[in-house]
Amino acid sequence: MTSKPRVFSGVQPSGKLHIGNYIGALSVWAKEQDTFDGLFCVVDLHALTVPEAINPSVLNQKIWETVAIYLASGLDPKKSSIFVQSTVHEHAELAWILTCVTPLGWLERMTQFKTKASARETVGSGLLCYPALMAADILLYDTKLVPVGEDQRQHIELTRDVAIRFNNMFGPVFSLPEAMIRKVGARIMGLDDPNAKMSKSIGEIKVGHSIGVIDPPNVIAKAIKSAVTDSGSTIDTDNAAGGVRTLLTIYQAVSNASDDEMHARFNGKGYGFLKSQVIEAVCEGLRPVREETQRLMADKTYLKSVIDQGSEIASGIAEEKMALVRNALGIDFIKKLSK
Ligand code: AMP
Ligand code: TRP
Repeated sequence: MTSKPRVFSGVQPSGKLHIGNYIGALSVWAKEQDTFDGLFCVVDLHALTVPEAINPSVLNQKIWETVAIYLASGLDPKKSSIFVQSTVHEHAELAWILTCVTPLGWLERMTQFKTKASARETVGSGLLCYPALMAADILLYDTKLVPVGEDQRQHIELTRDVAIRFNNMFGPVFSLPEAMIRKVGARIMGLDDPNAKMSKSIGEIKVGHSIGVIDPPNVIAKAIKSAVTDSGSTIDTDNAAGGVRTLLTIYQAVSNASDDEMHARFNGKGYGFLKSQVIEAVCEGLRPVREETQRLMADKTYLKSVIDQGSEIASGIAEEKMALVRNALGIDFIKKLSK
């Protein structure tokens, strides 16, 4: 029995994985993995919530690429389990059950649903029910900590509420998880718009919005050079806002500089200097991730062995939890009678 806290997190294999995902999630997973009993999942069922956008061969490629990026970011399959959500069927089964115990109003008030739904003419029910699937991901494994970016905090609070509701209705089946959110870099904004969160889907279609984790250095440099700042010209590290704050945050998160070091390095300096420093730090920081991702993408046999191993570990835990859930609900007796 391990005494390390069970940790679960995931990224959707959709759009262009960006430096916000890296800073807010992936780099934290890799850095802290020695202290975790970690399960890191490529949440492909979540990527189906916008069915019109699905292109099977692209999704296929994104799943491999996301696994490769997990490893290239430093996750070690000897220390953490890495797997693909759709290979562990209990996620879909528990998601349905939790959908049935989640009041509609709880789902309708999710900020991410409101934002995504308002940008579309028609909305699939999967987009609305997505937090129940995310709750299933987390609750299947008695997860203690969920390392994510700030945008996921509300979904984790909902997961706790759903677990409490289920436990009250059917008995103590689920443990309550907590969000683990870093202080600097939990919400990286778009380079083209300091008021909009850096997004995988916008990054895929709009040049200059995001910094892709596997973008080559010339593309990264171009995006940072064109980043929005403001009408000023010199940096005030304590009071910087907007695009200047975004660049400072990216630099601080990538370089691990302290507040004092940030002050000494940038206060009173020009925006041109800031951009050149950010370009250098980001290109240097992401270079090994890009190179290792390229190398791993050429070795699908290895990637497959990693996800098979992760899937086996995850399935073992998920099966046990689902047996408890079915028993609590009274839907497992037929199977038992036939034994
Ligand atoms: P997603 O892109 O929605 O699959 O998100 C994967 C992970 O990255 C989640 O933990 C998010 O909270 C995190 N994340 C997404 N966008 C950002 C961002 N702009 N800044 C920081 N973290 C982010
Ligand atoms: N909803 C998360 C996102 O879009 C991804 C996700 C799905 C997740 N299931 C999860 C994150 C479970 C943490 C734990 O970023």
